[in-house]
Amino acid sequence: MTCILGIETSCDETAAAVVDDGVHVHSSVVASQTDLHAKYGGVVPEIASRAHIERLDAVVEEAMTRAGCASADLDAVAVTYAPGLVGSLLIGVTGAKTLAWAWGKPLIAVHHIEAHAISPAIGAEAPPWPAVALIASGGHTSLFLVRDPDHIERLGQTTDDAAGEAFDKVATILGLPYPGGPQIDRVARNGDPRRFDFPRTWLRRDSLDFSFSGVKTAVLYHVNGKGRTRGGLEKLSAQDIADVAASFQEAVVDVLVRKTMKAAELAGVRCVVMGGGVAANSRLRAAMTQACGERGVVFRAAEMAYCIDNAAMIAAVGYYKWRRGEFASLDLDAKPT
Ligand code: KG4
Ligand code: ZN
Repeated sequence: MTCILGIETSCDETAAAVVDDGVHVHSSVVASQTDLHAKYGGVVPEIASRAHIERLDAVVEEAMTRAGCASADLDAVAVTYAPGLVGSLLIGVTGAKTLAWAWGKPLIAVHHIEAHAISPAIGAEAPPWPAVALIASGGHTSLFLVRDPDHIERLGQTTDDAAGEAFDKVATILGLPYPGGPQIDRVARNGDPRRFDFPRTWLRRDSLDFSFSGVKTAVLYHVNGKGRTRGGLEKLSAQDIADVAASFQEAVVDVLVRKTMKAAELAGVRCVVMGGGVAANSRLRAAMTQACGERGVVFRAAEMAYCIDNAAMIAAVGYYKWRRGEFASLDLDAKPT
């Protein structure tokens, strides 16, 4: 068994995990900062980095204790070095470098999005690679071809807003609290997804890129009146809000599912996996399950705990890099993009 400590601080979750062989999770601790950022309606970078400094030691200690693990049991320390908020990334990278140096362990640099792409394999039987991976989160929406965990190629990405960002912004337009994605998911359950026909942006024929700024603006103008950015919400009933949320969610889910199916068809693969915060969306999980079922394609969504930002997925990628002998030096730097 190869035992890796993973550390993740790229945005507003301080996380540490101890994972064997990239799949057996002994502990996965996530300290969310949602309460600190809620009143600002979004993540405030300075508050995020300060909270990471305050919490990282305790989160790592908790992960080691829950796993019943001593530093001598570890084979390496893996950390997210990119992409994310630079101040937040720096805290994790500095913490990981310090532990790797003090414990005499190799350091491994992990790309956050690559980690989301293999998150559906954590704590579960490995998907039958090759697979198309849809990764939809607050910062990213991308399609990857995962030939296996050692060979990952990007097929497409968003040209403007990420899907989660659109969920969060539409939730703000509808007066729902931050973070908006889970709120839209909840409110939409009582809404009619066919009441409003919000636009789907397909871009070029067969394009595997995404664009979600159009649907967000369409909701804004629908609520306030064309060209207006505020003042319309008071006129909407609770049912209207639920119908707007459901119709918006349906437009986003429709694009995500159809482009993922197109990617699988173009790549000639029979397996689809899904990760990232938006992969927790109940309508998206149901629609993707149905679309894959109709085509005889195997579908695996990451477990809920591994959809949102977590360090188990960082330790998992750390394992594959450890196998390939890809280690970082102690001058590793954080890369925001
Ligand atoms: O992966 P994640 O935790 O962080 C980033 O790397 O961005 O994703 C957070 C995003 C947020 O935009 C949040 O609103 C969205 O995922 N999200 C959801 C749901 N749960 C989280 N969006 C739609 N439906 C959900 N149930
Ligand atoms: Zn993420």
